[in-house]
Amino acid sequence: MFFYRSVLFLSLLFTARSLNQDGLFLQRVKLGLSDPAHSLSSWNERDDTPCNWYGITCDNSTHRVSSVDLSSSELMGPFPNFLCRLPFLTSINLMNNSINSSLTDDIATCKNLESLDLSANLLVGSIPASLSELSNLKLLNLASNNFSGAIPAKFGQFQKLEWISLAGNLLTGSIQSELGNISTLQHLLVGYNLYAPSRIPSQFGNLSNLVELWLANCNLVGPIPESLSKLTRLSNLDFSLNRLTGSIPSWLTGLKNIEQIELYQNFLSGELPLGFSNLTMLRRFDASTNHLTGTIPIQLAQLELESLNLFENRLVGTLPEGIAKSPNLYELKLFNNELTGELPSQLGLNSPLKWLDVSYNGFSGNIPGSLCAKGELEDLILIYNSFSGEIPESLGKCDSLGRVRLRNNRFTGIVPEQFWGLPQVYLFELEENSFSGKVSSRIASAYILSVLKISKNQFSGSLPMEIGYLGKLIEFSASDNMFTGPIPGSLVNLSTLSMLVLEDNELSGGLPHGIQGWKSLNELNLANNKLSGQIPDEIGSLQALNYLDLSGNYFSGKIPTQLEDLNLNQLNLSNNMLSGAIPPFYAKEMYRSSFMGNPGLCGDLKDLCPQEGDSRKQSYLWILRSTFILAAMVFVVGVVWFYFKYQNFKKEKEVITISKWRSFHKIGFSEFEILDFLKEDNVIGSGASGKVYKAVLSNGETVAVKKLSGESRKDNTNHSSEKDEFEAEVETLGRIRHKNIVRLWCCCNTADCKLLAPAAILHQVFHLCPYELLIRNPEFGEKDLVKWVCATLDQNGMDHVVDPKLDSRYRDEISKILEIGLRCTTAFPIGRPSMRLVVKMLQEAGGMGHKPEADKNDEKPSPCYNEEVSDQGSLV
Ligand SMILES: *[C@@H]1O[C@H](CO)[C@@H](O)[C@H](O)[C@H]1NC(C)=O
Ligand SMILES: *[C@@H]1O[C@H](CO)[C@@H](O)[C@H](O)[C@H]1NC(C)=O
Ligand SMILES: *[C@@H]1O[C@H](CO)[C@@H](O)[C@H](O)[C@H]1NC(C)=O
Ligand SMILES: *[C@@H]1O[C@H](CO)[C@@H](O)[C@H](O)[C@H]1NC(C)=O
Ligand SMILES: *[C@@H]1O[C@H](CO)[C@@H](O)[C@H](O)[C@H]1NC(C)=O
Ligand SMILES: *[C@@H]1O[C@H](CO)[C@@H](O)[C@H](O)[C@H]1NC(C)=O
Ligand SMILES: *[C@@H]1O[C@H](CO)[C@@H](O)[C@H](O)[C@H]1NC(C)=O
Ligand SMILES: *[C@@H]1O[C@H](CO)[C@@H](O)[C@H](O)[C@H]1NC(C)=O
Ligand SMILES: *[C@@H]1O[C@H](CO)[C@@H](O)[C@H](O)[C@H]1NC(C)=O
Repeated sequence: MFFYRSVLFLSLLFTARSLNQDGLFLQRVKLGLSDPAHSLSSWNERDDTPCNWYGITCDNSTHRVSSVDLSSSELMGPFPNFLCRLPFLTSINLMNNSINSSLTDDIATCKNLESLDLSANLLVGSIPASLSELSNLKLLNLASNNFSGAIPAKFGQFQKLEWISLAGNLLTGSIQSELGNISTLQHLLVGYNLYAPSRIPSQFGNLSNLVELWLANCNLVGPIPESLSKLTRLSNLDFSLNRLTGSIPSWLTGLKNIEQIELYQNFLSGELPLGFSNLTMLRRFDASTNHLTGTIPIQLAQLELESLNLFENRLVGTLPEGIAKSPNLYELKLFNNELTGELPSQLGLNSPLKWLDVSYNGFSGNIPGSLCAKGELEDLILIYNSFSGEIPESLGKCDSLGRVRLRNNRFTGIVPEQFWGLPQVYLFELEENSFSGKVSSRIASAYILSVLKISKNQFSGSLPMEIGYLGKLIEFSASDNMFTGPIPGSLVNLSTLSMLVLEDNELSGGLPHGIQGWKSLNELNLANNKLSGQIPDEIGSLQALNYLDLSGNYFSGKIPTQLEDLNLNQLNLSNNMLSGAIPPFYAKEMYRSSFMGNPGLCGDLKDLCPQEGDSRKQSYLWILRSTFILAAMVFVVGVVWFYFKYQNFKKEKEVITISKWRSFHKIGFSEFEILDFLKEDNVIGSGASGKVYKAVLSNGETVAVKKLSGESRKDNTNHSSEKDEFEAEVETLGRIRHKNIVRLWCCCNTADCKLLAPAAILHQVFHLCPYELLIRNPEFGEKDLVKWVCATLDQNGMDHVVDPKLDSRYRDEISKILEIGLRCTTAFPIGRPSMRLVVKMLQEAGGMGHKPEADKNDEKPSPCYNEEVSDQGSLV
């Protein structure tokens, strides 16, 4: 027994002794790290050398460690300074771990280091200036950490550095002009930091070996310096997301090796330079969201571009034909300019065109039949132009199409059969054109369709029952057409349907059986058709319903009392043949216009129905008489009111008088009712601009009232600009009918205060969400905003979503608010936070320091809801 033990002991001692010095240092490295994924399990003390360990490379002849690559190994803990004890180490790669310390000057003892990659970790503190003492260093990657402070000026002393990335940190100060001293530099990537406003250092023009210059989101101001014209080896130039002014310099067209130019989201003005013809390598050009004027140069369109983005400028003229010859063009986004003329007739014939968006221009002519010749077209977005003619038959074979948006053009004719049934289409928008003919039953094959909008056309025939097979349909609007026949019974199977708008057609028959299947239905508008039969009691089970308009039909029978189970924002049963009593909850004066024009309807609302026994003549007389009396009363009251008002005005009494009251939607309460609720007890939130009160009105509705604090100022100029702002906001909010935005019901403007009364719509769930306020508008679609945000967030990170006008120092707050916004727009109301929680979250977001995100492509899981219901963000 004893013998056995000692043998074991001896053998352990023996193996431990055999590990060489490099191995022993690496064991110390291992001890300092936490390794939950057991990435370092092969780092075995019993080996002679570490040369076969995971991540270790040795020199073939000396067997000394030359490289340590522990990237993406889920390691945690401080930076392992013991690595620098390895005398022949030339490369350290700890990319994508959780190294969470700061870097110390000890790093300078890694003196043979040629490559140091610590990107995507949790490193904090300042960047040690001593790094520049590593005279052999060629690559330094510290991107995507939380380094703060300024870039060390000593970095100008690097001897051999070719590649430096400090992108995506919390660096402040300005971009060091000393970096322009590193003549060996080929890649300079320092974007996405928190620098103070500064100009592009003209010294960068000295970096004659530079291939890549990435200064996106660096708070750059002023013009692009002339000295950069010397960077003739440049292949990738990215100045996007800054505040650069001046014009796009003409010397840019002399950078003959350039492949990619990103200038989007700046304040560049003037015309695009002409001489692009020498840039034969240019593949991507993006100068969108600037103030560019003039035309698209013919030379630019003659290059072999893969991607051309010039959206959101003020460009005029036509799209040069030459663009159609570019063999690899897959992305063409020109929306929101003032472009005219026709699209090149061969567009798409020679290239794998994938994303075409020329919305909001003055384009005319036909859709080129070749757009999908290579079978790659996913986005066909032509909204708000003057395109005409028919949809080419060839597009019916374009199975790759995902978004078809042709709204507001002058298209005519019959939509090709196959075009209705494209298998990948999820957004299909033909609104506001002059299309005719039927909706084809082939629509059944568009089985992932979630938004189908064909309103305001001249479609006719009956709606195919196949629409009811589209199990992912969320929104179907076909109003203002000439549809006849019944509402297909199959529609009740659409449990995700949120919006069904079929008003102003000639539909007949009754509501289909089984409408309780519309579990998500939010808006049902069947007004002005020829529908008949009873309104089924099941209507009361549509828990999500808040907009119900069945006016202008032939519905008969009793109004189901179950309507009282709903929280309706809008109800209209006017102009039908309904009879019997009005459900007690609705039998109130303010709902009068919801029930008018139903001859058989009676109830507590006595004068709504004709008085029994009265002859027609008598009732007319009665109406005439009462109108006269009413008018007289109004006159007298008016005169008296005016008198008192005038007296008050003269005395300048300190009472709240409503000088201006405007309602934007039909409301069932008066301003005076609201005033009663402006007490401390009812405060549910407050902000810089005033307090928000909860008001429960006599009609049972709950609204939020915002009282904007504005001292009555005597200073006239000040007052008028403030007033303008208020007026402007009110105008906008009042006009918007977007369900993601709190609906502004009304406002009043008094000498002492300003009140806004947005609707609060469902129970205590209060949808005061910051939504749209943050977002930059990519292509002006109103309905798929949430989807767009989610998709862009996932693919490109927050900066592609957030309005660039927002101060990037508040990135973190913005990100939090964005998150809150997304939670508020979860498809189903039940998943959304209550107002109380929203307020809490907003307060928390507001209380944070001004720190940005760690990385542009931050991979934080977004709270976006799942794909099945994601195509529509407009559910309330
Ligand atoms: C070292 O040896 C390995 C395997 O024998 C070989 O693949 C590698 O190319 C060698 N490296 C050098 C630098 O000689
Ligand atoms: C980062 O590491 C994790 C864990 O090993 C891995 O799943 C992920 O793909 C890595 N990410 C990148 C960008 O390499
Ligand atoms: C770094 O990570 C380790 C392991 O997760 C943890 O124990 C330590 O507290 C962290 N240190 C800091 C400064 O966050
Ligand atoms: C510029 O580079 C030279 C040579 O590499 C070096 O001697 C000098 O100190 C550097 N200047 C700055 C300001 O970094
Ligand atoms: C670097 O550029 C600046 C300004 O463009 C210039 O004044 C300076 O002489 C240049 N330095 C070197 C070493 O070329
Ligand atoms: C294109 O390059 C040629 C030859 O280098 C040169 O002569 C010409 O001026 C260049 N054109 C433009 C528009 O820069
Ligand atoms: C609804 O769907 C079920 C199951 O797919 C089907 O059996 C039924 O016929 C459908 N109802 C209508 C009215 O189409
Ligand atoms: C209901 O519709 C009629 C027209 O059919 C309209 O006059 C009335 O104002 C509407 N009522 C409401 C509450 O929208
Ligand atoms: C890095 O900075 C971000 C943004 O300020 C912050 O949310 C995060 O907690 C920081 N991480 C570390 C490890 O300091």
